[in-house]
Amino acid sequence: MERKEFVKTCGFACLGGLFLSSVLEGCAGSKMIAGTIVNADLVVPENSFAEGNSAVKKYIVVQHDSLKYPVCVYRFSATEYTALLMRCTHQGAELQVFGDRLECPAHGSQFDNKGQVKNGPADTSLRTFPVIVKNNQIHISLK
Ligand code: FES
Repeated sequence: MERKEFVKTCGFACLGGLFLSSVLEGCAGSKMIAGTIVNADLVVPENSFAEGNSAVKKYIVVQHDSLKYPVCVYRFSATEYTALLMRCTHQGAELQVFGDRLECPAHGSQFDNKGQVKNGPADTSLRTFPVIVKNNQIHISLK
C-alpha cells in the first residue's frame, strides 16, 4: 500500500469511528419511557431508572401523547432529579440527549443536565419542572 493510499484509508477509518461513536452515544439516549398523567403530574415508576445488575441510568426521556415535547429526567441521587422540557429555547426544535448534555439539531445549542445553556445561539435556560418521589413513583409537576 502506498503512503498516500494508507493515509487516505486511515482518514476514512477515523471518520467512520467518529460517526459510529456519535451514533452509539445517540442510542444511549433511547431510554424512552411512556409516562402517565395523574392530575397535573407526569408520573413514571421510580424503577424506570433501573438498568440491571443494580446499575442506575443517569437519565430517562419521558413522553406522553398530550405533550408536544418529551421531558428528560436526570437522576443525581435517589431524591435529587432534574426534569427538563426538551424544547430548545432558541427557536423551539426538539432537543436530543447525549449523556450529560442536550443538543439542538437545528442550530447546535447545547444545554447541561440542569438545563443551563452551554453553547448558543440559545441564551435562555431550558424549562424545568419540580420533581418529587412518593410511593416509588416519580412525579413531574407540569403546572
Ligand atoms: S432552534 Fe435550537 S439552536 Fe436554534
